[in-house]
Amino acid sequence: MSATLHPHSLLHPTDTAKQAGDFMPLLGTDHVEFYVGNAKQAAHYYRTAFGMSLVAYCGPETGHHDRASYVVQQGKVRFVLTTALRSTHPIAAHTHRHGDGVRAVALLVDDARQAWEQATLRGAVSALEPVTLRDEYGETTVASIRTYGETVHTFVERGNYRGAFLPGYRAILHDPIAQPVGLLHIDHMVGNVGWHQMDEWVGFYERVMGFRLYQHFDDKDISTEYSALMSKVMANGNGYVKFPINEPAEGRHKSQVEEFLEFYDGPGVQHIALATQDILHTVRSLQRQGVEFLHVPHSYYSELEQRVGHIDEPICDLEELGILVDRDDEGYMLQIFTRPVEDRPTLFFEIIQRKGSRGFGKGNFRALFEAIEREQQARGNF
Ligand code: FE2
Repeated sequence: MSATLHPHSLLHPTDTAKQAGDFMPLLGTDHVEFYVGNAKQAAHYYRTAFGMSLVAYCGPETGHHDRASYVVQQGKVRFVLTTALRSTHPIAAHTHRHGDGVRAVALLVDDARQAWEQATLRGAVSALEPVTLRDEYGETTVASIRTYGETVHTFVERGNYRGAFLPGYRAILHDPIAQPVGLLHIDHMVGNVGWHQMDEWVGFYERVMGFRLYQHFDDKDISTEYSALMSKVMANGNGYVKFPINEPAEGRHKSQVEEFLEFYDGPGVQHIALATQDILHTVRSLQRQGVEFLHVPHSYYSELEQRVGHIDEPICDLEELGILVDRDDEGYMLQIFTRPVEDRPTLFFEIIQRKGSRGFGKGNFRALFEAIEREQQARGNF
């Protein structure tokens, strides 16, 4: 492997920030909503393991008699854990089919109605027509469109809303059990789509949401001796929102994307990358709080300095924690991947610290996928 890696970087976010005429201006990711079997317990996991704080709740006590939602937050990372209270509710059908997983990737906009109109005008299928919600703290407007699988994008317009989350939610002012670990914001969120569907969804994000191709990786970049996948990274106009999209590629064994598609029963969000400014502290804290990470073999670290050159972090600390490093011509980045956070081998998390690099860890793909293959083997899915 060469010391300097050049992902196929096609676009710099700063270039596009200057571009006029972005028909879908996004201010960032507002929140991610998960449909889960038991939101009370899922929220407890994100609070105690990921150290997020419970900040808002809605359920029967707040007038919602068919579901309960817990909002947890750390930095700008905000998750909503939602469950159905009755078996006949559509949320129950979603969790029956997919297990716990991401339902909505919500994007913050200045004008939710306009975002929804622009998207549907360009061919998006509506999942929720614009609706304005009000309570004593003000009003917000939300609207949703469908994307891959049963996943949706919700446009959230907050205006000068002053409540804890959205109208109808009760604020939780203090979380006595949360132990923050330094999570700052969502760096990127990856979707897995079916065989030969990657370009269809790349086209969707280009046409419907004005995204551009940011980087791409083919099966030569992302393959081991046994399995392969292909990936294209889509970014919105200002580069705040990045959605890599994976599809399976032919290999001798079942790839991780195929395993996901089988157990999620269709396309869905594969991983969410959370940014930190101190990955050693963040990962050490997460491990202490029970988050499980993929194991990286010793050989990776014995070759590391030769591959990436000098880095600030002691390699012995990186090896102790299992953190991966990659370098490109702009700098380097550190990353680590959790094991799936459900019993189904579906959604997992990445913790990432960028030190100049805007890449996605191309130099780690092989080590990473070999680690995933060992886990697939242990599950009997390889
Ligand atoms: Fe990633």
